[in-house]
Parts: sequence; structure tokens; C-alpha cells
Amino acid sequence: METSNHFEIPGSVSLQTGKGGLPVIRVESATSTAEIYLLGAHVTQFQRKNEAPLLFMSESSEFEVGKPIRGGVPIIFPWFGPHDGMPAHGFARLAVWELRASQVLADGAVMLHFRLPPDDLFETDYIVTVGDTLTMELSVANTGSSDCSFESCLHTYFQIGDIHQISVIGLNGTRYLDSLIGEQSTETADAIRFTGEVDRIYQNTSADVEIHDPSLRRSIRVRKSGSKSTVVWNPWIAKSQRMPDFGDDEYLKMVCVESGNVKENAVVLHPGEISILKVEIASV
Ligand code: BG6
Repeated sequence: METSNHFEIPGSVSLQTGKGGLPVIRVESATSTAEIYLLGAHVTQFQRKNEAPLLFMSESSEFEVGKPIRGGVPIIFPWFGPHDGMPAHGFARLAVWELRASQVLADGAVMLHFRLPPDDLFETDYIVTVGDTLTMELSVANTGSSDCSFESCLHTYFQIGDIHQISVIGLNGTRYLDSLIGEQSTETADAIRFTGEVDRIYQNTSADVEIHDPSLRRSIRVRKSGSKSTVVWNPWIAKSQRMPDFGDDEYLKMVCVESGNVKENAVVLHPGEISILKVEIASV
């Protein structure tokens, strides 16, 4: 994989060889550290200094061009889920992104700008800011000459102490598609708890979501803009066993709360328009 390193900043941003021999950007800000693989512009680690990591990574993940990384923050674009025999969840997580620029900000946070290799329809950029919180902004511009639509999702895997003890707050009253049975429903719980497989697409919601985690004694706040869908996913036992790149017991230590625009919330852009999906995650 060809890489250049003009964006390196001594002590803050360095290009290194990561798992599977893949290039990885290691970032150190004033208050946190992060790792981002060029494969998928995939954030695999974010940690505030002296705190537990915020993101979950599977120990069975592949690190190989052509295969998605399991954990961290896969970028789902330009479609969500299966798609006519094409790679599930789109090609963005399988592409090698270019790191174009980096900068240390006045508050000590580090900002990185990635770009997806251009295609005929879209110009797709990703700005990651590693600071006290982790902020990710996916911007998609329609550079073609006709309308186009896409789905997107920042598929954040969070590290938790125990799936049986956490709750997800912020979605009460929101309609969702239960992907396990293909039926629509409305959330009635203030605090969503987990006792089996959950795979739900909450629609028309811009709300912040919090994951309360008593065993790790923390809450994770997911704040978003430019996003109308929130996906909540835990594969539980049988699906974990079916996934080759995921440990059988790892479902106990992760939950996905994904922010994006999928299904009826897919984005339509006229030529020359741009759309920005922004997600900030913080331990609070
Ligand atoms: C979630 C979907 O977003 O991603 C689930 O709602 C899916 O249905 C999960 O199983 C993981 O997908 P993949 O392609 O990374 O195995």
C-alpha cells in the first residue's frame, strides 16, 4: 500500500505499520490518543489519558485489504446493509483513504483530514478530531450532474463492562425498524436493556444517546448532527458464533450505537450540494 508522510507532526501524528502490516496513523493529543487505519479511514482506538478505551475492537478482527475491520468505527457508505451482491455496508470501509492534512488545534486537539478516492458521483471527506472527545465528520458532495442518493452511518462499536448491565437512553417514543423480524415498532422504554440479539434502526431521530455502564462506572454520550437514523446492535450468542471475525463471547463487552442516515432517511443530493454527518463521542 503506497503512503506518504508529509502530514506527520512530531509528537502528535505519526504513520506506523499496524496489524497485518497495514498503515496506521497514531495520534496523541494533549488529553487523548487514537489510532486510525488508512484502510476504511477506520478509527480503531480512542482513549482519554488515564481512562479505559471508549471503543471496542474484536480480538478476532481481520486486518487485510479487501476485508472490513471488526470494531472501532467502520464508515458505512454509500449503502447500509446488503446491496445486490455488492459488499455489505458499502465500499468505503474497504477502500484505502488518503490522509491529506493534519493540524494541532489551539486547545491541543489533533485534527486529521482523510479523503476517499474520488468517483464519478461523490467527493467524500472525513475529518477526525482527537481531543477530550472524539469527533468524526463525514462530508459528501455531489460532484456529478444528476441527483444522487446514499446511505451513511458511523458504525461505532463501544466498549462496555457487561451487556446485561448497560442501558441505552434517548430513544423513547422513536419509531424503529426491527431488522430481526422486518417489522416497525415504537420504542416504549426510557432505558433500553439487552437480554438477547438486538438489531434496530431508529428513524427520524436527531437525539443524543447515552450508554449507561455501571460496571465501568461511566456513561458514553453520542451527540450527532446531520443524522436522522440511529442503529442499535448487539449480535448476542448465535450471531457471534456465526461471525468468523468476532469472538464467541465478545458480545458481552460491546454495543453498537450507530449514527447516520439509512432507509427512509437516505440522503438525496442535487448536483453541487453537500451533506455533513457529524458525531461526537465522549465519556461523561
Ligand atoms: C449493523 C446491522 O449495522 O451491522 C447488522 O444492523 C449487522 O444487521 C451489523 O449484522 C454488522 O454488519 P457487518 O457487515 O459488519 O457484519
